[in-house]
Amino acid sequence: MRTGHLLRTQAFRIVLVYVVLFAFSVTALLAFTYWNTVRTLDGQTDQIVAAEITGLAEQYQHLGLRGLAETVRSRSTHGGEALYLLTDRLRRPLAGNLDSWPQTVVTAENFVEFDYERPVDGKLEARRARGRMFAVTGGFVLLVAQDVHERFLTRRMFTTTLPWTVALILVLGLAGGALMSRKILRRLDIINRTSGEIMAGDLTRRVPRIGSGDEFDMLAENLNHMLDRIERLMRGLREVTDSVAHDLRTPLNRLRNRLEESVMWLNAGGALTKEDIAGEIERAIAETDQLIGTFNALLLIAETDAGTTRAAMTALDLVSVAADVTELYEPLAEERKVTLTLIPSGDVAIEGNRSLIAQALANLVDNAIKYTPAGGHVRIGTAVGSAGVDLWVSDSGPGIPHQDRTRVVDRFVRLEASRNTPGTGLGLSLVAAVAHFHNAALILEDSLPTGLKAILRFPRAALRATSFKNAAQ
Ligand SMILES: Nc1ncnc2c1ncn2[C@@H]1O[C@H](COP(=O)(O)OP(=O)(O)OP(=O)(O)O)[C@@H](O)[C@H]1O
Ligand SMILES: [Mg+2]
Repeated sequence: MRTGHLLRTQAFRIVLVYVVLFAFSVTALLAFTYWNTVRTLDGQTDQIVAAEITGLAEQYQHLGLRGLAETVRSRSTHGGEALYLLTDRLRRPLAGNLDSWPQTVVTAENFVEFDYERPVDGKLEARRARGRMFAVTGGFVLLVAQDVHERFLTRRMFTTTLPWTVALILVLGLAGGALMSRKILRRLDIINRTSGEIMAGDLTRRVPRIGSGDEFDMLAENLNHMLDRIERLMRGLREVTDSVAHDLRTPLNRLRNRLEESVMWLNAGGALTKEDIAGEIERAIAETDQLIGTFNALLLIAETDAGTTRAAMTALDLVSVAADVTELYEPLAEERKVTLTLIPSGDVAIEGNRSLIAQALANLVDNAIKYTPAGGHVRIGTAVGSAGVDLWVSDSGPGIPHQDRTRVVDRFVRLEASRNTPGTGLGLSLVAAVAHFHNAALILEDSLPTGLKAILRFPRAALRATSFKNAAQ
């Protein structure tokens, strides 16, 4: 990655701002600590000096100049950090452990700082001291000070190292930042490259995850989920187009050929009664209706499956949906000599789309009546259990063999046994799509002693806390 490119990246800019802020904070913190420490230590020195001066002033008052000189002399021999110098008016030393009057720098209120020389390990060393001048009558001056050389060195070190410290923070921070941004950018690059490949048409590509579970992994996971969904939608769309192309073309062609034949027959002067013509047209209409039905079913399945239908979710009572469907199918059941029973139960209120659920239930009931021989029975019921909320239809027909239970929900799949009954093989596909739309499951199991029990199992989360009647108020 080029440096120019790196500098322009957001990641590096964030690092840059952070490093500058950090260096600034460090400087401010160090400066404050430094200032505070110097102030406290200078204060301590000044206090010691002031106390000494008070003591010496007392000596002077009681014992006069000679006594003061004596005391200064005796204290000077103690060594340590204390420095004394008593001079006459010409600044000539009279007593004390300083050889001569130093070049003083007045700081504040008679406090002075100065350099003096002292033998250390046999060598003369320039050292820093801080003290106070005290005028004695007759032009004599007393200088009392403390050696603050160590402190002075520390202070000097502080002021010389601070700029280097800041510079080091900046350099290390920026280098670290560059490394970090490079790492971040490398992962962004991978995502960008994958998106590029996907845009170029390879929808099977997925963003790789490194398994660290960090934000980039999460981003990759979300992108991959999104891509899965897009792929599913595209597949759904392709399936619909394929289905329309293959499965609607044959009946359309058949219809067209039949109509063409009739016209040819008429043109050839064939004798057709009015009833014959009406019958032919009615058959054509019935076939068109079936085509429209298949077409609608296909579209509804595709839309529901992809979750793009605008079907609204409302509170609904499964029992009342079941009652409506039962009523709708009673005439057909009667005609087929099948008993249709709705097993009574209390309200089962869930969140869902009423017309989709009613359509799915109608398809299940339609199958049950269609595939159950005369004399059999079909039952519809609801149940609330720990696994979920069930809407079920059971029959006493032949049932669906275990090995076929997965494939019967696919589009246009019809079992061999149902060859002679009319149907398109889309009924269960729609039920499965409606189940998917509601996060529900379509379970096909045996109904005892024979037959099929089809269950639409909604998640318990779909259950409304209040009963339907209360929720509706
Ligand atoms: N209750 C049932 N008992 C026995 N077989 C069934 C039952 N329900 C469905 N099947 C089998 O599953 C196949 C698929 O059912 P599906 O409802 O999808 O299509 P269909 O009933 O054949 O046609 P359509 O419902 O589109 O008119 C049926 O053809 C049938 O073989
Ligand atoms: Mg069916």
